[in-house]
Amino acid sequence: MTIRLITTVTALLALVTGLASAASYPEAPIVFDKPVTGVIFSHKVHMDKGLSCEMCHNRLFEMQAKKAQGNADFVMESLYQGKYCGACHNGSLAFAANTRCATCHIGVKGAKRLSDGGTQEETHEH
Ligand code: HEC
Ligand code: HEC
Ligand code: HEC
Repeated sequence: MTIRLITTVTALLALVTGLASAASYPEAPIVFDKPVTGVIFSHKVHMDKGLSCEMCHNRLFEMQAKKAQGNADFVMESLYQGKYCGACHNGSLAFAANTRCATCHIGVKGAKRLSDGGTQEETHEH
């Protein structure tokens, strides 16, 4: 009986922890700064479009901010070939990566504005 209770409690805890981590993504946008400064990615904007975590966090991106920008192939050419953001930003699922440059590229000024007015999490890196 005791063992069964412990098993049940453990299973419930695992479920609750699992649900909590499945739902939590960073509120503040991630701003890439390599190779160029100021490419904005907002979880909120993307989640509001009804996308699921798995669409990006299976093979496209890891759950670690600024991991992808450590890869030498995190460049426009890869996006045009359908990698990274280009898996969706291809003109059918979302606006194509070779259009509306400034929607993703907020530039050095845009990045600075966000980190000045942004959360502590963003400012502690500078
Ligand atoms: C449209 C694509 C997309 C969707 C959908 C998405 N993410 Fe992300 N997520 C990203 C990108 C891009 C990064 C940054 C990865 C990098 O820099 O290499 C990221 C990073 C993260 C991080 C790391 C944050 C940090 O500060 O290190 C977490 C946690 C995360 N995502 C959780 C989630 C969860 C939970 C969901 C679903 C509720 C979700 N994401 C949905 C694209 C997405
Ligand atoms: C799983 C599909 C998917 C991936 C991957 C994805 N996006 Fe998007 N993105 C969308 C959709 C869908 C929209 C909304 C439709 C549209 O605007 O064409 C959108 C919209 C946007 C917008 C416009 C936001 C606004 O305020 O209107 C930006 C900026 C953007 N994405 C940047 C990125 C960047 C940068 C990456 C890669 C780090 C990325 N996205 C990866 C699907 C995706
Ligand atoms: C869907 C989002 C998105 C759009 C739209 C977009 N870019 Fe990018 N761009 C990125 C990402 C992501 C990177 C890599 C991260 C970084 O450099 O901060 C990047 C990097 C770059 C780089 C440096 C790497 C390289 O490929 O040489 C240049 C230059 C660039 N973009 C130019 C452009 C131009 C010009 C346009 C419009 C024709 C454009 N981008 C549209 C997301 C986008």
